[in-house]
Amino acid sequence: MTLSADTPSEILSQLIRTRRSIRDFLPQAIPEKLLNEVLADANWSPSWSNTQPYRIAIASGAVRAKISSELCSLFDLGMAAQNGGALGKLRLLLTRRGLPDGDFSTQFTYPEDLQPKRRATGAGLYEVLGIGRKDIAARDKQMRRNFEFFGAPTVIFLFAHKGLHEFSILDAGIFLNTLMLSAHAHGLATCAQGALATWASPIRSEFKIPEPYQLICGLSIGYASESAVNNFNPGRSDANLLQIESQK
Ligand SMILES: Cc1cc2nc3c(=O)[nH]c(=O)nc-3n(C[C@H](O)[C@H](O)[C@H](O)COP(=O)(O)O)c2cc1C
Repeated sequence: MTLSADTPSEILSQLIRTRRSIRDFLPQAIPEKLLNEVLADANWSPSWSNTQPYRIAIASGAVRAKISSELCSLFDLGMAAQNGGALGKLRLLLTRRGLPDGDFSTQFTYPEDLQPKRRATGAGLYEVLGIGRKDIAARDKQMRRNFEFFGAPTVIFLFAHKGLHEFSILDAGIFLNTLMLSAHAHGLATCAQGALATWASPIRSEFKIPEPYQLICGLSIGYASESAVNNFNPGRSDANLLQIESQK
């Protein structure tokens, strides 16, 4: 990444605006020192009463491969049940394998007012990928890529302390953004993935997660490939900046 900026505000502004979610990575490993520098930056994130109510678990190499394989199996089982009609769903309920076991539900009905943005983002992404609106098999395959961490060599799982309720989740989000921006500044690419909170058991089997911590998100991290999908930029709505009207 080349920046054409001199002042801190210009540099920061360019970093914020040029960071993108990357959905195809090179297999190239991240040097440990580099990752540690990024994590040390993220550790300076502000939080409620400076409680820093989040923890991370980092998987690469064999552990990453094991978690990915397990998550893909669970995804496949869930999909088979979904596409298998009533019998498929019954099997899922009876065996329970494939049923989401995350700490938070990642499957919910989107509020009507947020649907247009969600649909536009999905449609834009599938267009870049050349996936047709009705090509369910290709869409499922792309969804499955989440659980392959889009080929990234490393995945970071983020946990929030349940004792601070929504506020630790807010703090974890701030931490996540600092991490993504620092990664970008260090030449690393990332994709935050709520999808990785769908099943917690494969991650809990590999890491001793302290009891009050709940899996809120995953983050694939590594080096971006040249794939066209990485050029996808969903933009932002200026309407977000409109102030809520005064009562008067
Ligand atoms: C909390 C969070 C969860 C996300 N979950 C996913 C995900 O599961 N899969 C995915 O491909 N992208 C995911 N994204 C990426 C968003 O789709 C992306 O940030 C958004 O479309 C804006 O694009 P940009 O990050 O390239 O600016 C997530 C982003 C955030 C912040």
